Amino acid sequence: MEDDTYLLEMLDIDKSFPGVKALNKARLQVRPGTVHALMGENGAGKSTLMKCLFGIYRPDAGSIKISGKPASFADPREAMEGGVSMVHQELNQVLKRNVMENLWLGRFPARFGLVSEREMHKRTRAIFDELGIKVDPRAAIGKLGVSQRQMVEIAKAVSYHARVVVLDEPTSSLTNQEVEHLFRIINKLRAEGVGIVYISHRMEEILQISDDVTIMRDGEWIATEPAPELTIDRIIKYMVGRDLTHRFPPKTNVPGEDLLVVENLTGKYPPTCRDVSFTLRRGEILGVAGLVGSRRTELLETIFGVAHRAYGEIRKDGKRIVNRSPAEAIKNGFAMITEERRANGIFAGLDITFNTVISNINGGNRTRYTKLGLLSSRKLNKDTQSSIASMRIKTPSRKAYLRNLSGGNQQKVVIGRWLLTNPDVLLMDEPTRGIDVGAKAEIYQLIINLGSEGKGIIVVSSEMPELLGICDRIMVMSGGRLAGILEAREANQERIMRLAAKFA
Ligand SMILES: Nc1ncnc2c1ncn2[C@@H]1O[C@H](COP(=O)(O)OP(=O)(O)OP(=O)(O)O)[C@@H](O)[C@H]1O
Ligand SMILES: [Mg+2]
Repeated sequence: MEDDTYLLEMLDIDKSFPGVKALNKARLQVRPGTVHALMGENGAGKSTLMKCLFGIYRPDAGSIKISGKPASFADPREAMEGGVSMVHQELNQVLKRNVMENLWLGRFPARFGLVSEREMHKRTRAIFDELGIKVDPRAAIGKLGVSQRQMVEIAKAVSYHARVVVLDEPTSSLTNQEVEHLFRIINKLRAEGVGIVYISHRMEEILQISDDVTIMRDGEWIATEPAPELTIDRIIKYMVGRDLTHRFPPKTNVPGEDLLVVENLTGKYPPTCRDVSFTLRRGEILGVAGLVGSRRTELLETIFGVAHRAYGEIRKDGKRIVNRSPAEAIKNGFAMITEERRANGIFAGLDITFNTVISNINGGNRTRYTKLGLLSSRKLNKDTQSSIASMRIKTPSRKAYLRNLSGGNQQKVVIGRWLLTNPDVLLMDEPTRGIDVGAKAEIYQLIINLGSEGKGIIVVSSEMPELLGICDRIMVMSGGRLAGILEAREANQERIMRLAAKFA
């Protein structure tokens, strides 16, 4: 093929970090006016390849061409001026600034050295209107939800009139409606001839939106094929290098006696959960389904003491329990894996060891790291090492900084951390979000194993196949209330959806 059939061509890209060869002759060829999905397991090198394009990393070897012309950007500013925009997996916006300042950061045409607020507002409005984004340009970024911040980033990409737009896991925190909105924006860009590189772990979504798919494994190019010719099974095979026999491992846990009894639990500050009553048994995996806004997260937060309770009672092993704070909850044998790990759960500038043991140092009572008031680094390191092994965390060492791990591996560190506190009740909010298929299966296995050990597990998830695949029972929330509880064996998507709409 001629050089200029491709809008973007990256060939033989190498990139090493200390102890890691992140890219090894990686390749990506994007045709104009197409959506090109970039897929691979956590740590395969997807984000690194895109950061090489965007001038964040300098590749060790290889060539990059845009519309047939060699391109090499020293930094993101140059990349944007050269027609490449990128929406990052981790949002790095300046939280104190407002929306429009973030959008135009450092490039707003100033007259006599002064930036006109009015003009900036007008231009921001125009872009938002064009894209159907309903966000106040003067709102502080820190006050927005993750999905709105995501939308602001996408608007920013569009405002640069980019020819190549990279979206790194843009939908991991969007609702279905927001995803549809995003897809409309993508289709609009595609029709204008823009090339879109789309990174996501959601298989169904990939086949729906993309024209071509490139799959990477261990930093290498594996295959590029037209999306209509691919199936989910084939993509998985390319990604993991083998057939994945069980997307859901066989269930070995057997629910026993009552562990947790929750009665009329009601949060203090609405909108929150109201009058929720249920029982969790030892060894049981209890799913929580519901639409966005059904207050599933608030339910977990009220149990865990993150959110205040107005009334209602929790008993564990027959004993009344009041979790006034997460620290108290941890002491009472609870653990909670939160939804927005990237915002609330990780210490990006610190290493894996710290991130693994922090919950134990901070109020956990099960494992002790102190001897005569001194921290035992031997034990810290041993626990961290075993967490890395059992969670199969991909890293050169336990000393690696969290920010240098791939997104999915950061999540595994957080899950590993909570398992170390050896809780009786594990609350998990969207535990597999942003995690690749192979790692998902590992986490399902882990959850089932924990169940087999007699722990009680509550899993909030928006992926119904996941709930149906691993849970014993599924409780469905609607408008903050409990709409019903189904035996997983008798449940299906339709019955769940009907309950989810009950009080919505
Ligand atoms: N700045 C860095 N320093 C050291 N290692 C790094 C750095 N950036 C990435 N890596 C390593 O390079 C490899 C590829 O990471 P990358 O973030 O590109 O994966 P990914 O395919 O985007 O994964 P995910 O789906 O989890 O986001 C990983 O092993 C990661 O730990
Ligand atoms: Mg990534």
